[in-house]
Order: sequence, then structure tokens, then C-alpha cells
Amino acid sequence: MVELRDVCKSFPHPSPKPGQDPIFRALDHVSLEIQGGEFLTLLGPSGCGKTTALRMISGLDTPTAGQVFINGTDVTGLPPYRRNVNQVFQSYALFPHLTVSDNIEFGLEMQKVEASERKRRMLEALDLVSLPGLESRKPDQLSGGQRQRVALARALVCRPNVLLLDEPLSALDAKLRQNMQIELKNLQTKLGITFVFVTHDQEEALVMSDRIALMNRGKIEQLGTVDDLYYKPKTQFVASFIGETNLFLCPVASRNQEFVTLKLGGVHDLRLPASAVESRTKEVLISIRPEKIQLQHKPFSGHNHFTVMVEEEIFKGPSDALILQFHPDASTPLTRQVRMQSLVPNFGTDQQVIHRGDKVYAKIHPDDVVVVEEKTD
Ligand SMILES: Nc1ncnc2c1ncn2[C@@H]1O[C@H](COP(=O)(O)OP(=O)(O)O)[C@@H](O)[C@H]1O
Ligand SMILES: [Mg+2]
Repeated sequence: MVELRDVCKSFPHPSPKPGQDPIFRALDHVSLEIQGGEFLTLLGPSGCGKTTALRMISGLDTPTAGQVFINGTDVTGLPPYRRNVNQVFQSYALFPHLTVSDNIEFGLEMQKVEASERKRRMLEALDLVSLPGLESRKPDQLSGGQRQRVALARALVCRPNVLLLDEPLSALDAKLRQNMQIELKNLQTKLGITFVFVTHDQEEALVMSDRIALMNRGKIEQLGTVDDLYYKPKTQFVASFIGETNLFLCPVASRNQEFVTLKLGGVHDLRLPASAVESRTKEVLISIRPEKIQLQHKPFSGHNHFTVMVEEEIFKGPSDALILQFHPDASTPLTRQVRMQSLVPNFGTDQQVIHRGDKVYAKIHPDDVVVVEEKTD
């Protein structure tokens, strides 16, 4: 439905330093195919190029290099009104002097849709965003959430093939925002319109998206489903941006046909199947999610278990985060001390099983160790 093919967008650097490239690449060879009816999120830190990518699709801006396709047609040189896409902005951009109904009907009027048909579609759109009865109000007589819905109705009333949404929920308070996330996702499923949604909030992206394109410095770091990005991050940036995790850079200590042994923190043996790490690899970056670390008071049997001290206990409602320090034995130099975070269900005040200051046993299952990056020298 939408394709960016090797798209670049450069600007003159705002304050180039001597010797620095005077050209700044807001988009650096971005390629992306978005399916019809898909909810795709462009996610990434502020300044990574999300809005710029959206402007390439809407036609509000043109690429320095590369092409944009919508529905198989090359639209790279076409103005916004010939693309059948519509956009909802962070600031809503409603006309303050027009009523809700006039705001919503504005685009239809531009398209010379006849008055009774305009009214019918305006009412239908208001119904869709759960705002019936407010058509004669002005924007300043509405709450933030209601304004957001009007902006959405205004975009939907033109029946675009593709709806572009640039951080549309960021001005709403947390509770309303969570409700709107679910509503918006339901609406998208119901209408079957392709949504390209921009956010810097990874939780929001996880809740709503069919797929996420995680961006960093003008490039797509990884494109995949929510599960792909969470469980199979391909770079350190992805592993640390999506959710909480423990990252360790471990030298490869030894390997045989069956197993490869890593040195966690340079000291503690962690054994993985040989197939997990390529034979030439000298060092690996691994990610272990906090909720995957098993803890108990009794020793574990087998491999990959460690004695740890609970250094901190952080209440997080349904779960407790525990900061664990690998119990140093006499031979461990202080500089080699290793910490990791685990997440355990919160059993309530009476039944808390593991406390701050406890010495407990931790086990890490090889399947829960994600090899993120491998270094050969
Ligand atoms: N018109 C412009 N002129 C110069 N630099 C720009 C322009 N538009 C965006 N940029 C720069 O491009 C980068 C990406 O911007 P943007 O796409 O708005 O990021 P995001 O939406 O991810 O926060 C930023 O560093 C921004 O300063
Ligand atoms: Mg932006």
C-alpha cells in the first residue's frame, strides 16, 4: 500500500563544526513496505526522523533521493491532495473559529461534496469517534480528548486509503491516552484503513502496532512484529529501547561440539548450545529479560545458576524489581562485580518470598539468552 524505496532526506547542517559533513541526513536510505490494512508504527527517540518519514508519505515534503509509492503508483512528485492520504497532527490543527461540524466538513467542501451528503458523512464520522451531539461547539469548548477525536473524525471523513498520525496522543493525560490507544486500534481494525502511526513511546507502540519500524539517526534499525523486536532484537539499540533488559558483553571462554561457554562479567560461566554463537566469535553481546530470571532460596541443579545478593527491592505494583548482585567469591576482583535486574510477581505484604538483603539462587535458561551482537576480533 505504501512503499518508501531507498529514501534520503538531507538538510544543510544547522551548526556544522569544522571538518564535519555540512549535510545532515534526516533520512538515510530508508526502505519500507507497508501492507494494506496494516497498523505500522514508526518508533524512535526524538529527532530520529519519524516526522520527516511521514512527510515523505503525505507529500508535505519531497525526498532528496529515492521514491515513494502509494498503491503501486509512484507519487514522489505528486502534491498531498493527489495522494489519498490524510494526516492527524499532534497539535490537532483544528480551525478555532469553525464549529466541530464545519471543521469536519471542511475537506469534503474542498472536494465539492454536496451539502446533504456532507452532513450525513460528518454525523457518521462523529459517531465513529463517539462524539455525537457536539457538532455545534467550537474547539475551545472541548476537552483535549474531544479535540483529538474531532481531529480524527476530520481525517476519517474523507475516507483516505492511508491515515498518517504524528504523535496524536501525546497531549493527553496518561489514563485517557491508554483508553484512546485501545479505541484507535479498534477503529483501525473496524475500518480496515492503513495506519502509519508515529510515537516516541515504546509502550504505546507495543500496545497498538501490527509491526514496528524502530528508527535511530535517520535509519530503520529493525522492522518487525512486536514479538520480533521484544524477543529477537538485532542490535543493542533495539534491545535497550524496547522494554527493560540486562545487557552483558561476554568473552567466549571455550567451545566444543555441543556447547559454548561465555564469561558473564568476565567471571561467571554461562553455557549455551554451540549453535547459538558462530565459531569465529570472540565476544558476544547478550540480552536477558528481567522476567526470565528464575529465583529461589534452594540451590538449582544443572548449569547456568548463580548465587546472588538482593541489593534493592523496587515496588512496581503487580511486580517487584530486584537488583541482584552476583555473589562474589573470594577470588572475584571488585571491578568484576556484576549486577542484573529481575522482575518477580508481587505476592503482597504477607507473602513476599524474596527480600532485600537475601542471598538467593538465580537460574538463567539458555533459551532466554538472546545473542544480540557477535564480534569476531
Ligand atoms: N526543515 C528542516 N530543516 C533542517 N533540519 C530539519 C528540518 N526538518 C527536520 N530537521 C531535522 O531532521 C531531524 C529529524 O527530524 P524529525 O523527523 O522531525 O524527527 P522526529 O519526528 O523523529 O522527532 C532532526 O534533527 C531535525 O532537527
Ligand atoms: Mg516528530
